[in-house]
Amino acid sequence: MKELFLCMVFEKTIGEVVNENYVYARALHYLGIDFFEAPNRKLREICAERGLERQQVIKTFYEFDSCSRFSFQELRSYPIELLTEYLKHAHYIFIKDKLPFIVHLAKKWDRAEGLKNLLPEFVEDFIKHIYEEEDTTFKYIELLCAIKKGSCKAPFSLMIDFEGYSLQAEFEEHQDEDEFGAIRSIASTIEPKNLHERVLIHEVQAFDREMIYHAEIENNIFFPKAIELEASVIKKIKLLSTLN
Ligand SMILES: [Fe+2]
Ligand SMILES: [Fe+2]
Repeated sequence: MKELFLCMVFEKTIGEVVNENYVYARALHYLGIDFFEAPNRKLREICAERGLERQQVIKTFYEFDSCSRFSFQELRSYPIELLTEYLKHAHYIFIKDKLPFIVHLAKKWDRAEGLKNLLPEFVEDFIKHIYEEEDTTFKYIELLCAIKKGSCKAPFSLMIDFEGYSLQAEFEEHQDEDEFGAIRSIASTIEPKNLHERVLIHEVQAFDREMIYHAEIENNIFFPKAIELEASVIKKIKLLSTLN
């Protein structure tokens, strides 16, 4: 079925392709094609004009189509270092791929000022949240891991860098956060009237779901593991200080 779709896809118009699966709007954008600029032209014509190879287009569609996820059970079995890398990768995809596409779609949209005005504010808060996690929480976890493995030469002095930091407080605060709430409410009031609006609302809802999954992984898997690690490292440090 999928092969048939991929053979036929070049004979379809850009609008038809996107209508079948809104994910292809992002795949096309990745290839340098904005679906709303030429919705009535055939994909084959556009690809020929832009010098895009058939193979490259199919590979891109395939990659945007396939949803590579790890189950919560798998993530739970990961060591915390690997889990941290997984979360960092998710941050990268949010910031470099999914969010810019939503912002791009909203910019090229001629209505709904509410959503347009809210997005830059959300992007700013979201990037701040991610930097805080990566520059403080994840750095702290890296240090705890190094101390636990014994690969850290001066654990006491390095721990001083995190003197005012509380992992528990960070965890509690994290559980209450819902930065996307305002955008979710506005998006739910919009009745999409054309393909552009349908794709935009679809991307907003898909991003919202991704954020919920991400927060769930952080709150239920990452933070409990981190708190457990912190407790064992503090025990180790206490033991070392009594021996010195
Ligand atoms: Fe995160
Ligand atoms: Fe987070």
